[in-house]
Amino acid sequence: MDKIIIEGGKPLKGTVKISGAKNAALPIIAACLLTGGWHRLHNVPHLKDIQTTKRIMSKLGVVFRDDNNTLEVNSDNLRSHEAPYDLVKTMRASILLLGPLLARYGRAKISLPGGCAIGERPVNLHLKALVSMGVDIRLDHGYIIAQVDRLKGANIFFDTPTVTGTENIMIAAVKAKGQTVLRNTAKEPEIQDLANMLRSMGADIEGDGTDTIVIHGVDNLRPTQHTIMPDRIEAGTFMIAAAITKGDIKIQGCRPEHVGALIEKLEPAGARIQVSDDTIFVKGPDIIKSVDIKTMPFPGFPTDLQAQFMTLMCIAKGRSLIRETVFENRFIHVSELKRMGADIEINGSQALIKGKGYLLSAPVMATDLRASASLILAGLVAKDGRTEVNRIYHLDRGYEALEKKFVNLGATIWREKG
Ligand code: EPZ
Repeated sequence: MDKIIIEGGKPLKGTVKISGAKNAALPIIAACLLTGGWHRLHNVPHLKDIQTTKRIMSKLGVVFRDDNNTLEVNSDNLRSHEAPYDLVKTMRASILLLGPLLARYGRAKISLPGGCAIGERPVNLHLKALVSMGVDIRLDHGYIIAQVDRLKGANIFFDTPTVTGTENIMIAAVKAKGQTVLRNTAKEPEIQDLANMLRSMGADIEGDGTDTIVIHGVDNLRPTQHTIMPDRIEAGTFMIAAAITKGDIKIQGCRPEHVGALIEKLEPAGARIQVSDDTIFVKGPDIIKSVDIKTMPFPGFPTDLQAQFMTLMCIAKGRSLIRETVFENRFIHVSELKRMGADIEINGSQALIKGKGYLLSAPVMATDLRASASLILAGLVAKDGRTEVNRIYHLDRGYEALEKKFVNLGATIWREKG
């Protein structure tokens, strides 16, 4: 298995260009199933999860044409409605195929996503909403078997704001009979990017980005062209990298308004931040101050930046409290940070960090995508030797050429093939 080696202690300097967003590209590629013809998607990142989506959809009969970061998608000749366990088990977001398959073909067989390192992550809210749209759903030998003549509009209230739940049902409702009203929806920017893509196909959607979305079903859609939004979690990871290494980084091709909650915490921690249209400048402080955070759905502090921010707090001056409210088991990176000398106490969904001003290099193990990013950041500041981050296949799921981007910023970091 590949691993990444880091010799820390260097302030990062220079410019980094942000890639397209994984969590926007996944639902947008799935939504291409809604109608035939060639869709053309730009700024699609090269990631393991995108490859997995393409492999599952190719098994359904979808044809792809890849040209750098432009992906063309055609589903004229679908021959299957089944997303098999062996692929779905590697990526829960495969559930996003359920809505478009039902909207276009009236049936789908999708392996039920199993457990996940960061939490139980059920899909009950997706299924409950589809049942209220007239879908007949049964679970059979680990598969969701779903069938409907034509989806019908419905009034749906999500018990908790769910990102992929909102996306799945929004896609399904685009071709449903009548009006669908979704309440207590997630408000993440990725949902708005998907809604923009669907509207450019001819969908009638209002309210995305708020907690109430109204969709009027249409009969016909057309293939479209869309540019995927920049990845706000990748941008946030580089902002924290600048702060933690006392660096000075220009983060280009991002949307500053998407990382407002992080800016609100990095500035009191001592970072100097300047924002312009699609660029953020971050200058790291000599001394990092401790700051408390509480993860929340957007526009709150993103759970996908919690682990990276924890690494920063490990070298801060003072104590900080991190509360994780979105996922019930998202502190797995703590034991690895402790191997690097961090002082962290966990109490249920809270972690108390006593900043020590330093971390020590060590061999560590990545356990999920964002935990692996937090260990890379730890390695960039760790002193006395080399940090070795193992199981980095987690990282490749969601970061495009991360170590190359860090090398361009002056880091000593490389990959060793396993
Ligand atoms: C999306 O996951 C992202 N994934 C996650 O990013 C992100 O952490 C998460 O939203 C929260 O921001 C993609 O967009 C592909 P949720 P999702 O449904 O949609 C509970 C990364 O690192 N829930 O908003 O699966 C759930 O258990 C990944 O890029 C139900 O109970 O998250 C959780 O506690 C990790 N029943 C809460 O809602 C359901 O049917 C929010 O989950 C659905 C969700």
